[in-house]
Amino acid sequence: MSPIRNEPVVALQDFQSVVKGDLREFSRHFRDAVHVEHGLLNLVIRYFLRQKGKRIRPLLVLLTAKTCGGIRERSHRAAALVELLHTATLVHDDVVDESEKRRGAFSINALWGNKVAVLLGDYFLSRGLLLALDHEDHDILQVLSNAVKRMSEGELRQVQRSRRMEIDEDSYYKIISDKTASLISACTQCGALSANANQSRLQSMAEFGEQLGLAFQIRDDLFDFGTQEIGKPVGADIQKKLITLPLIHALEVTNPSTRRKILNIIRTGGKKKQHRETIFKFVESTGGLSYAKQRMEHHVRSAQSLLESFPESEARRAMHALSEYVIARKK
Ligand code: IPE
Ligand code: IPE
Ligand code: MG
Ligand code: MG
Repeated sequence: MSPIRNEPVVALQDFQSVVKGDLREFSRHFRDAVHVEHGLLNLVIRYFLRQKGKRIRPLLVLLTAKTCGGIRERSHRAAALVELLHTATLVHDDVVDESEKRRGAFSINALWGNKVAVLLGDYFLSRGLLLALDHEDHDILQVLSNAVKRMSEGELRQVQRSRRMEIDEDSYYKIISDKTASLISACTQCGALSANANQSRLQSMAEFGEQLGLAFQIRDDLFDFGTQEIGKPVGADIQKKLITLPLIHALEVTNPSTRRKILNIIRTGGKKKQHRETIFKFVESTGGLSYAKQRMEHHVRSAQSLLESFPESEARRAMHALSEYVIARKK
């Protein structure tokens, strides 16, 4: 098997072009699945879909299918289904996190309130389930239902963890595996299933998705310590007393009295700008940011090494580049 070259970091469009026609097919399924003629639902959905996300998950379904032997009609549906489930969880997540911004615009809960946001999330979820059931894609539905179950468990455990202000790395990893990596791993599994991959390839792709998903959430958690414009609030995790990897590491390596002081600030005053800056400086100077970056890179390298058992192809190279993008992305 040929080794994978270290590709230069590319823009999302570069590897989208590998499955360009298929992304169009995915979009058609996605649009049809959320089409509503009239009423409030029509208005809210039209508003929400005006701001497109990065659509990394459908891209991953398609590239995996292509790497595993070929994209079929089922792959397009699976791609639409994962984006529907992802969209549903984002709309719900903004209610849970009381977040007012998503994809550079007001969140659904900010504009229409929690009731509409919860119902819209349910609507996206049910349209996804129906899309799979209508075509008897039972294996795909099984994988994705399991991911949705783990995502809810992860989000619930995160609520509990922030209430207790837990700071251990194990519980952090368990949560990000459930709330984020489970769906990304489901994408690669569905891509492989839709291409009729054998058990060993399915397993490798599942693990590729898991590793990529962990890196993806660590990148997202790092954004929260930055000042970059990412289309959603920054500094929000600390405000919610959510202690993510950079801060976990910094708290672990610092002395007990600083640890107490920082935890106290988070407990009582994370909302104040000045306090937030103290925490950010502490995390930076204690090596928390660089530690989290190292962990993220480690997971991406693990993911990339799993690709080596697949025959060299344009699609495999694109998956390699996509995993590089997860580290380098700016939003
Ligand atoms: C956001 O996912 C939720 C996380 C798992 C961090 P994305 O960053 O893929 O969101 P969109 O779809 O591009 O907006
Ligand atoms: C991702 O976690 C949660 C989901 C599974 C939707 P975050 O709460 O960090 O995601 P963002 O930052 O709001 O997108
Ligand atoms: Mg959130
Ligand atoms: Mg986040």
